[in-house]
Amino acid sequence: MATLIDGKAIARALSQTTAQAVAGMVAQGRGAPGLAVVLVGNDPASEVYVGRKISQCAKVGIHSIEHRLPADTAQADLLALIAALNADPGVHGILVQLPLPAQIDAGKVLDAIDPAKDVDGFHPVNVGRLSTGTGGLVPCTPLGCMMLLDTVIDNYRGLDAVVIGKSNIVGKPVAMLLLERECTVTVTHIATQGLPDIVRKADIVVAAAGAPELVKGDWIKPGAVVIDVGITRVTQPDGTTRLVGDCAAAEMDHARAVTPVPGGVGPMTIACLLANTVQAAQA
Ligand code: GUN
Repeated sequence: MATLIDGKAIARALSQTTAQAVAGMVAQGRGAPGLAVVLVGNDPASEVYVGRKISQCAKVGIHSIEHRLPADTAQADLLALIAALNADPGVHGILVQLPLPAQIDAGKVLDAIDPAKDVDGFHPVNVGRLSTGTGGLVPCTPLGCMMLLDTVIDNYRGLDAVVIGKSNIVGKPVAMLLLERECTVTVTHIATQGLPDIVRKADIVVAAAGAPELVKGDWIKPGAVVIDVGITRVTQPDGTTRLVGDCAAAEMDHARAVTPVPGGVGPMTIACLLANTVQAAQA
């Protein structure tokens, strides 16, 4: 049987470390780190994510500042808010929840965030730093994936890693982090041919396609470590719903270790956001 990597427990431990760092800053008279969270419109999933981020900030002592803007906000108004947040010394981190409404160019908005406050790690400067291995703020979900892998892998050197999905938020940055550890990295995507055979060679599989149960048990090399980033709510034949990852969880038994969905990567994302906010505040 595969070991389950307990993302909830690992995230809790990381958040405790973050809370201690915040308490240390406060004790030194430096004040608590401030995180501005910007939500444009009322996408239901984004509302849930933003609510969680804000409540987790409170738990570790980070001061969160929420900015909720209407769905018809003009791009210029959002850019003006970001300029004000960039200039505010009490704001150490800025997070603009994605997706943004259609009238707003997300790339322009991300470009406008001060890279030193870019706790999502999406600014081109931070993307460049990640790809050159020169520090910067690292996107939260990929950072969380690596922390989960670190609990079961000591030496990455020469391991075959297959990433499924080429998104800017997960697939590309996690590929860079695995490359930095000297894995041989293959990034696959929607147009990849022969995906099952590519995955069969992998010592590490990071599935971030958003395709429920795409990865079958017979794709997994015995002893591989599987990180399942996907989380999709699917309706079952009896009309009830459940959350499903990108891997067929019931078939992962010959993996060495696997992350559950939910309770694997998900909790790490917010814990890493809090850690990034402290990193930005201490820089
Ligand atoms: N939407 C989905 N994932 C993310 C994320 O990691 N950060 C932000 N800002 N928006 C998202």
